[in-house]
Order: sequence, then C-alpha cells, then structure tokens
Amino acid sequence: MSENVRLRPEIAALGSYSQGRSPSPEGFKLSSNENPYPPLPGVLEAAIARAEYNRYPDGAAIALRTRLADRFDVEFAEVLVGAGSSSLLQQLMLAAAGPGDEILYAWRSFEAYPAFVTVTGATSVQVPLTDTLEHDLPALAAAVTERTRVVLVCSPNNPTGPTVSASDFEAFMAAVPDDVLVVLDEAYREFVTDPAAVDGEAYLRRFPNLVITRTFSKAYGLAGLRVGYAIGPARILDAARATAIPFAVTELGYAAAIASLDRQSELDERVADIVARRDRLRDALIGQGWAVPAAQGNFLWLPTGEHTAEATDAFFDADIAVRPFGAEGIRISVGEEEAIERVLAVAAALPR
Ligand SMILES: Cc1ncc(COP(=O)(O)O)c(C=O)c1O
Repeated sequence: MSENVRLRPEIAALGSYSQGRSPSPEGFKLSSNENPYPPLPGVLEAAIARAEYNRYPDGAAIALRTRLADRFDVEFAEVLVGAGSSSLLQQLMLAAAGPGDEILYAWRSFEAYPAFVTVTGATSVQVPLTDTLEHDLPALAAAVTERTRVVLVCSPNNPTGPTVSASDFEAFMAAVPDDVLVVLDEAYREFVTDPAAVDGEAYLRRFPNLVITRTFSKAYGLAGLRVGYAIGPARILDAARATAIPFAVTELGYAAAIASLDRQSELDERVADIVARRDRLRDALIGQGWAVPAAQGNFLWLPTGEHTAEATDAFFDADIAVRPFGAEGIRISVGEEEAIERVLAVAAALPR
C-alpha cells in the first residue's frame, strides 16, 4: 500500500501541475505564454547537425556560457545555464534558503514560485500587488526580516504584465540588506518596450546580491528544448550549480541556444511582430472598456473577476485556450495574428 509510504506532507499536497485544456488543431493555444513562431530559421538544423547524442552533454555548458558571457560582458563564471529559467530559479532558492527561512515575492506573480519555495522547505511570504497590478517594491523591501534569504522580483510580471521601473528597482536594491539574495526574473525581457523599465543587464556587478534570470523559452521560441540562464556573482552561481541535476540541459538545447544567438536580426523582427500585436490587442481591449494593465511581456491580463470561469469557457467555446486565475482574471498570450479578431470578439461579449 503506497499510502504507508511517508512522504513530505507539504510536497504531497502540492499536487501535479496542470497545463489546462487544449484547443483543437485549428484553434489557438494562448494559455502558456509560448511563442507562436517556430524556432528561428536554421536553428534546429544547426542543432541536429552538431550534436553527438551517444555522449553526455557538456555538463559545464562551456560553449553557451562563453557566448553569453561575451554577450553580457561578464566573466564565464558569472553565467549559469539550466533546464529553463524555472530550473535556475529553483536552484537559486535551494542554494540560499531552507527550513525556517523566508522567501519573499509579490503576489500574484509566476504561479511556480510558491511550489519552488515549498520544495526548499522555506516559507513563502507574499506581498500583494498594487491596485494597478504592479509590484509594490517599498512594501516588498519593508517585508524583509531577519529570516529573509531571497526576494524574487518578476519584471514583466507574469501574469499581470507590468514591469518594475529602473528607478524603483534601484531604490529597492538600496533598501534590501546585501546579505539577502535578490533574483530579478526577466523571462520576458526581450518584449519590453517601456524605456523606464528595469533592465537587469544594467545592474550586473553593481549589486553584489543580485542575480538575473532569462530564458530561451519565450522570445527565442525554444520552450520545448528547456534552456535558461542566470547572470550574477560567481559565488552565488557556484552554490546554485551545486543543487542542479547533472546533465539536465541537453546537447540539442545548447546547440539550439547558440544557433539562436547567431540570429539576432531575425529574433528582433519576430519580437517586433509580437510586440505590435500585443499593443494592438491591448488598445482594442481598452477600447471595449477593459482595464488591461500595462502589458510588457507576450501576454495580457483581462480582469474578469468573479466571471473568470465563465469567461474561460467562452474562450474555450471559440477554440481558444487561455489561463484563468481564480476569481481574479485571465491571462491571454499574444499568439498568431489570426487569433486577434477572435479574441476580441469573445472579449466584447463577456459578462462584466
Ligand atoms: C515569470 C517566469 N519566469 C520563469 C519562467 C520559466 O520559463 P522557462 O523555465 O521555460 O525558462 C516562466 C515561464 O512561464 C515565467 O513566466
């Protein structure tokens, strides 16, 4: 009887992650903030051509870390690569926090944060977003205690969309003690167009307790290959590396990431398309009377409140999968061009 097996109760209670309902092959999957475009031209071919799959991948990720170190003008040891930035977020938390410690983050934010914290054995401390669904950085800084080991800042914030401003971020970093690790989660940074938004790259080396995380899953369209990276002080990244599962990133993933970095202009074009679609969609939803917060990622927040379940069903009836969050709202990823009119038609008819 497996019931007799003693599990960590807080882990058993986490349950399994649900990816939600899938639309038909003709429908639109706008529920996971994926890129509607396939990997950049030539990336998969380059990746398949290079790798020897009877060998283990390069556990030290030398080629990709070297490329990223050049790109960000940091040392090789200041870059860590993982199986998606999810993996790196978990590793950083494991490196810094355990039972009795606190990990602080805004809420609502990336839905994986609470589970990652639970896995470390630490306690989640959630600080509510502002009325405009943005991080309340002064409140986050004020919530730091003797027990705080990590503060997560998500910009743009998934699922609501706004960024943290550079000036607020600087004030926040100045207020947080330098023995507390701050992780700036920039999974959607490539889509940011607001010039006032924080760009973690500008703060590398400036704050000795800051690590930024980014990913090839979103703008680069490699979500299925699982490659993310962190940049920050070598001592912190070395500790995070020690918590990793060996060889978690595949050789195919490394090669695809490197080939993607070789195609910056193609990336820029695709990102520009998605950003233009995002802004058009937001303007049209605002035109319908929806209070859509600033949208700086590849997704938008529709505040459907108590009608969230009904609204999710209405989208599903139109063969569109979106992501509902309790009785708060719906997150709609910016997908195919053809999805826009259909999303707008459903949104116009939703109960308010
Ligand atoms: C805010 C945020 N951070 C991190 C991730 C993790 O992405 P990945 O593990 O694919 O790099 C996601 C994915 O949805 C996200 O929304």
